Amino acid sequence: MGKKKPKILVASGVNLDLLGTREPSIYGHQTLKDIEDLVRQEFSNKCDLSFFQTNSESEYLQILNNGWDGAVLNPGAWTHSSLALADRIAGLSLPCVEVHLSNLAQREEFRHRSYLAPVAVGSIAGFGGYSYVLGVHALLHKLTLK
Ligand code: DQA
Repeated sequence: MGKKKPKILVASGVNLDLLGTREPSIYGHQTLKDIEDLVRQEFSNKCDLSFFQTNSESEYLQILNNGWDGAVLNPGAWTHSSLALADRIAGLSLPCVEVHLSNLAQREEFRHRSYLAPVAVGSIAGFGGYSYVLGVHALLHKLTLK
């Protein structure tokens, strides 16, 4: 019998449902579904992927405790505001990779602080939808090294 595939959550937060039409000069033209297809194409044979998006912070916090082996998280603006998200990830000891479409370091000062970064395994930003692919790749690498 083969080894069980790791259960990976890919969770996008507030306003990421608007991808495709939202500020395309910053976020590109890919929809969240396009990104999901891209990630599934690359990783469906390596892990058990679940995709999730919500505009409710409480739902976002809730989905984290479903027994995932790890998570790839783009919390959108909650990145810069949610101490609750950081506390929950620390509390659950959930291995997670932070991803962003845009390069936060090149943007406004208020986007330079991430509450998630200190509790994440690492962060990837600036590659558009491909940041998600890199995020899953990095997470699987981390989980197999564990
Ligand atoms: C984002 C960056 C955040 O600053 C912003 O609030 C978003 C999207 C990104 O993926 O680049 O909603 O997380």
